[in-house]
Formats: sequence, C-alpha cells, structure tokens
Amino acid sequence: MNGTFIRLWPQTASHYASQVDTLVATFTGIMLLFVLPAVVCLIVFTFRYRQGNAVERQQRSQDNHLLEITWIVLPFLASMVLFALSARLFFEAHTPPADALEIQVTGKQWMWKFQHPEGQRELNVLHVPAGRPVLLNMISEDAIHSFYLPALRLKQDVLPGRYTQLWFQADKVGSYQAFCAEFCGTDHSTMLATLEVQTPTEHVRWLASAGSESSMAAQGSVLFRQLGCSGCHSPSAAVRAPRLEGLYGRPVPLADGNITIADDGYLRDSILLPQKQVAAGYAPIMPTFSNLIDEEGVQRLIAYIKSLANTDPTDD
Ligand code: CUA
Repeated sequence: MNGTFIRLWPQTASHYASQVDTLVATFTGIMLLFVLPAVVCLIVFTFRYRQGNAVERQQRSQDNHLLEITWIVLPFLASMVLFALSARLFFEAHTPPADALEIQVTGKQWMWKFQHPEGQRELNVLHVPAGRPVLLNMISEDAIHSFYLPALRLKQDVLPGRYTQLWFQADKVGSYQAFCAEFCGTDHSTMLATLEVQTPTEHVRWLASAGSESSMAAQGSVLFRQLGCSGCHSPSAAVRAPRLEGLYGRPVPLADGNITIADDGYLRDSILLPQKQVAAGYAPIMPTFSNLIDEEGVQRLIAYIKSLANTDPTDD
C-alpha cells in the first residue's frame, strides 16, 4: 500500500500509519463478512419469492438455541477484536514518548508557523528528522484550525486559548502534504504546509543553516526582560511576585484553595489571563500581556520558564 496505484490510498510515512491501515482493512473485512451474505440473500429471495412464483410460503416456527447463541457470540467476539486493535492505537497516539523532540506550532488565518527548540522558525514548512519521535505543541491565534497529516494518518484540532498535542515518528524520508482540516474562513483551503522528513544528518545540517543565533529559551529570556517581567519576578524586585525558578511541572497552590500543575497551559494563562488562577499568598496585581505578545512570544517565554525548571529559587 504505497499509493502507487492511482491515489486512492494516501502515502504511508510511519509505522503507526500502516497499523491504522491494517485496522481499516480488518474492519472492512469483518463488515463484509456480515454484509455480503445479507445482500446475497436479499437478491436471491427477491427472485425466489417474487409474486406468482410457486414456492412454499408457509412460516415454520424455529427454535434453535445453538444458532441463536452463535450469532450473538460471533459478532461480539469480532467487535472485541476491533475494540482491542483500535484501543491500542488510540493509546499509542495519545502517549507521546518522554524523549520526543518538541516543536511549537501556531495556526493563524491562514498559515502554519513552527518554532524549533534551537530557535529556528519556519512558515508552512516543517523539517523533522526521520526515526525520532516528534511532539507538536499546538495553539491557534484566532479560529479553530486542525492540523492534518494524511501520510501519518493523524489529525488534531488546533484551538484558540488552549494547547493541544500531536506526536508522530516518521520513518520514511520525503515530502508530505499537511492540511488544515477545519473550516476556518475564506482561505481555509490554502492553509497548507509541507512536512519534510529528513535523515538525521540532513536534519542537523538543515538546523545549522536555518539561521538562529539563540535557542527558544534564550529568546524567551530576552523577551522576559524586554516586557519587564523581571521587574517583579526576580529576587531583587520590590514587588512580591512568584519566583519562576523550579516552577515548571510542579504543583502550584492557588488562592481559591485548588492546586494546579505549572504546565504550558497554566503558564500561558498566567501571562495572558493573570486573574484566572492566582497563586496562593500573592496579590492579584499582575497585568495581562495579551495585547503585547502573540502566541509565539508566549511559547518563547514558556520555553524560558521551562529552562529554569531545575534551578533553585533560593540561590542567587
Ligand atoms: Cu485553518 Cu482551516
């Protein structure tokens, strides 16, 4: 199934994609097993029992427990096979490996923007290495979009105000088409991107040539100073604000008594909607930065805060 016979079947660029194809084939096969005999009987009986045909039309009462049990148990077992196959794929698709290469994606009317951890940025083209898990952390600047990679059999909605994730491991080097799969306005159909799967060496060379002097975290640290965040969130600050060292991934007690985890979503909301979840013990005085930075800027700030995850707030 490599898509060479017409283009009825999309290209297959990952192991996951071929597993999805197997599931579809198994599903279709099992359905045919039930549908075909029914259709054949329907056609045969249409002719056999047509009006005027001299056949016996007397109804015989049947009482066959074995038959009843068989046609309950067999379809049940078949559906359990489908359930097991699809549940396994579902969990695989929703469990990104911890060592995945994380790339930030921003959907915007009508383009796709990508940011690599080493700081490289791309528009409507995404370069990834083959044979390595890649995790896309995605958000929208405006409407709901959907990032769709047919060659990987993956699709995920990209929402405003909330991060969604998609992970894959492309095994075959090549260029693959990505689409926006959610109607998002006038130019929805032109909201395309290309996934360039490279060999690891090619990818390293590409990263070096793609022009970035500093990592996302370093860019975030510059932004942190430019926006004046350091004025409050630093040990020497006059204003008492939560320290950001050692914060990422840890539990945060909130003023309303709840506890949340300092993940990407919490940090984003704290920057853009600071009154939503106020950290316990602090006055709700942080202003919103929603009119000063875009989602890409927020992603860089989060990368910076993430880089402080293993530092100690007490040593300065
Ligand atoms: Cu973005 Cu459709």
